Amino acid sequence: MITRKESTFNCQLPVDELNREATPFYYYDMDVLHATLGAIKQETEGWPYVVQYAIKANGNPLILKEIASSGLGSDLVSGGEILAALEAGFQAQEMSYSGVGKTDREIKLGLEKEIGCFNVESIPELEVINQLAGEAGKTARIAIRVNPDIDAHTHKYITTGTADNKFGIPVEALESVFNQAIAMPNIDLRGLHFHIGSQITTMRPYVMLCERINQLQDDYEARGIGFDIINVGGGLGIDYTHPDDCPVPDFKQYFDVFKQHLELRPNQQLHFELGRAIVGQCGTLISRVTYVKENRNKKFVILDAGMTDLIRPALYGARHEVQNLTSVEDGREHYDIVGPVCESSDVFASDCVLPVTRRGDLIAIRSAGAYGESMASRYNMRELPRSHFSH
Ligand code: LLP
Repeated sequence: MITRKESTFNCQLPVDELNREATPFYYYDMDVLHATLGAIKQETEGWPYVVQYAIKANGNPLILKEIASSGLGSDLVSGGEILAALEAGFQAQEMSYSGVGKTDREIKLGLEKEIGCFNVESIPELEVINQLAGEAGKTARIAIRVNPDIDAHTHKYITTGTADNKFGIPVEALESVFNQAIAMPNIDLRGLHFHIGSQITTMRPYVMLCERINQLQDDYEARGIGFDIINVGGGLGIDYTHPDDCPVPDFKQYFDVFKQHLELRPNQQLHFELGRAIVGQCGTLISRVTYVKENRNKKFVILDAGMTDLIRPALYGARHEVQNLTSVEDGREHYDIVGPVCESSDVFASDCVLPVTRRGDLIAIRSAGAYGESMASRYNMRELPRSHFSH
């Protein structure tokens, strides 16, 4: 881990600068993003590894441009993301397109732009891609998304690799799918795709994934089926509790798992689809206290940001560090930190200890760069959050 003391950048928030802006907004620390991209480059250099940024984590155009210019590929889940990625400068051949429900229009767009790979989730989808590729006079490069039945022990809404999930094709059905794909005239079967879940903080599920892949490769090689690409998806977690001590995830530990446990064949490429680990720590939701209110049992800090700006706490019970950036008081108090939206779930943190907080104080909700702005909505006809950048 790069700690705050060791790192060459200062991840203190520029409070005076932030205090001048209209709230709420996302503040992106581009030094943290650069350090993160640098660490990925350092750990993958010299290896046949291709990191494709999962755009769903944050599609802010400036963030996308920054990541595209660092040379990463992109992982997409909609036609809108394909267009945003192209606009930001990501190369079409370095794009993978995942999702269980790709529409005909989206598939046609992917074919027209000649994206690198469709990650296929079912036989009906495979048939449609083959048909549409034929009509367009193209060959679609595809990987089959395998459901490896590995429990990543993460939140039930963001685990994806178990047999009960809607994602991927079960191992026992694979051979028939491969045979059908190989027989299709407009399909070029290039790889195997996996994604076991998100916010994974121990390496054990990844070691299990490597072992599962080794076994599958051995089995299929014996039957004459080989692949150019192995795609292990994303999912590496971040430290939501210590955003300043761990602004950059431990990429060494993560990539070492694959270096040590995955038996990559000569000329095979290993693809990664990281989202949260790339953008999570560079983003902070900045908000102002509208009121402090006391009920019989509780004190509430009511912010001008709500679940429409950052839905993770309301949707998953996710915890983000909440900090009062401007309090000048000595004492500390227990507060529930809530938003203004007409839903009881519009709560950022319960029983949170903060310096005594007053109307007008500036509040930071940390580690909000991933699945924050990208999941914002206009519920209650609220405005979408704005964004500001460190430079
Ligand atoms: N690849 C596939 C096929 C995915 O479904 C996902 C995320 C990723 C890659 C990137 O995963 P990451 O590296 O960001 O963990 N909204 C939730 C997370 C949903 C993740 C969906 N799939 C949250 O706020 O925690």
